[in-house]
Amino acid sequence: MSMAARIGIVTVSDRASRGEYEDQGGPAIQAWLESALTTPWEAVPRVIPDELHEVEATLAALADMEGCCLIVTTGGTGPAPRDVTPEATEAVCEKLLPGFGEQMRAVSLRHVPTAILSRQTAGIRGGALIVNLPGKPSAIAECLDAVFPAIPYCVDLIGGPYLETEPTRVQAFRPAHARRSG
Ligand code: MTE
Repeated sequence: MSMAARIGIVTVSDRASRGEYEDQGGPAIQAWLESALTTPWEAVPRVIPDELHEVEATLAALADMEGCCLIVTTGGTGPAPRDVTPEATEAVCEKLLPGFGEQMRAVSLRHVPTAILSRQTAGIRGGALIVNLPGKPSAIAECLDAVFPAIPYCVDLIGGPYLETEPTRVQAFRPAHARRSG
């Protein structure tokens, strides 16, 4: 059995899933995590269309069958009829963490006024934290930079692996009692 942390990377896009264009969001998430995490980890990537039940089933399988401690989605968070990623996230989570969406929108609004159009959210399903990012590749680093400091401790609290980060890239914050030395 691999000891690496497993992280789901889900691109939700009709066009990318049909091969009409190359997925850029998934690789951007993978590259960001490679630069930020020092803990061994492996990506579990998926590219799926904007179909509510397919997004729900993918998130549930990554949490329940694939053992992911973290699942990051990109795309489908806006107001268009096909945008259903937040609904799917809410449907499969036992707990919602609305602060993630609030913080990502607040930071993104410094870059682009249309950040207000993203309904991105986050929540917990079993042992997995699910976090939605917008579909724009440029939004990925902006949003992960904004919320990742809180993600390792969140994963601790749901029984996941102790995630450590490259401190020059992102400073994981844990309360003093939760810190491991060395
Ligand atoms: N957030 C950041 N940081 N950068 C962006 O370019 N684009 C916005 C918003 N959030 C954007 C952003 C736009 S234009 C939309 S429509 C919403 O995210 C939803 O995008 P999605 O449907 O691709 O998830």
